[in-house]
Amino acid sequence: MANLSVNIAGVTLKNPVITASGCFGFGREYEDFYDISRLGGISLKGMTAKKRLGNPPPRIAETPAGMLNSVGLQNPGVDAFLRDDLPYLKTKDTVLIANIAGSTVEDYCEIASRLADSEVDLLELNISCPNVKEGGVAFGVSCEGAAGVVRAVKRHARQPLLVKLSPNVTDIVSIAKAVESEGANGISLINTLLGMRIDIERRRPVLYNNVGGLSGPAVFPVAVRMVWQVANAVKVPVVGMGGIASAKDAIEMMMAGASAVQVGAAMFSDPMAPVKIIEGMESWLSGHGIADVGEIVGTVRPWS
Ligand code: FUM
Repeated sequence: MANLSVNIAGVTLKNPVITASGCFGFGREYEDFYDISRLGGISLKGMTAKKRLGNPPPRIAETPAGMLNSVGLQNPGVDAFLRDDLPYLKTKDTVLIANIAGSTVEDYCEIASRLADSEVDLLELNISCPNVKEGGVAFGVSCEGAAGVVRAVKRHARQPLLVKLSPNVTDIVSIAKAVESEGANGISLINTLLGMRIDIERRRPVLYNNVGGLSGPAVFPVAVRMVWQVANAVKVPVVGMGGIASAKDAIEMMMAGASAVQVGAAMFSDPMAPVKIIEGMESWLSGHGIADVGEIVGTVRPWS
């Protein structure tokens, strides 16, 4: 059996497969399908200081090889999470990653402070949500904005800080370097690509918010490219995501430089996808005589 365990920013995961934020809620809905302790980690639904109802529907639409969403960070707020969800999640043997979002720098700091004494293992700073009017991706599209929020949150966070980057930028590497220089302990990417579809009979966008984030296999090549660029430019670990739907996709993402992966949209068509990916990675590694999954990280050999 190949060793699948990985270390991200000082935290050990039993395997490199994490469910992506926003696609797994706080885990309860998936318990009917498998024991969620099998997961390397869970990135929890994006959490804000106060409860949010999210955007009006329709807020999800299927597209060829993917989906658009404009959920708008619906969540119960950090205090309800600590009271109602964390006790349940702590009965599971998996790494818990709190994805934190806000409209202002102060919001992010407040959530990091509220979580500081909790049993959450890692924070994932969401500066890349494209579906809210204030905050979110506004911080993630400039080096100054991204660096500023990381600098501030690092003063309040006790857990290691991953920063989740947006692909909706011209130079992902400069933003990755900016957050690393302010003390980010890891980088996760990519969040969704901003997209739009129109119902031609109604002449209406398919989403109430008009535009939304594209995920699923359609974005996978973009994600691999960005992970490869970022992993070659920073020293902190990179967590790769964006359209991973199979063990081969996960292995490809790790060869691009990711130390772990997140699986998102694939779970909507197959709730068992993360488990199949864990099992498929194990058999691929064993079949190739590779003893430890870490041996494949960043091993792509570019042509030039
Ligand atoms: O709209 C949403 O809740 C999406 C969040 C995200 O992409 O980070």
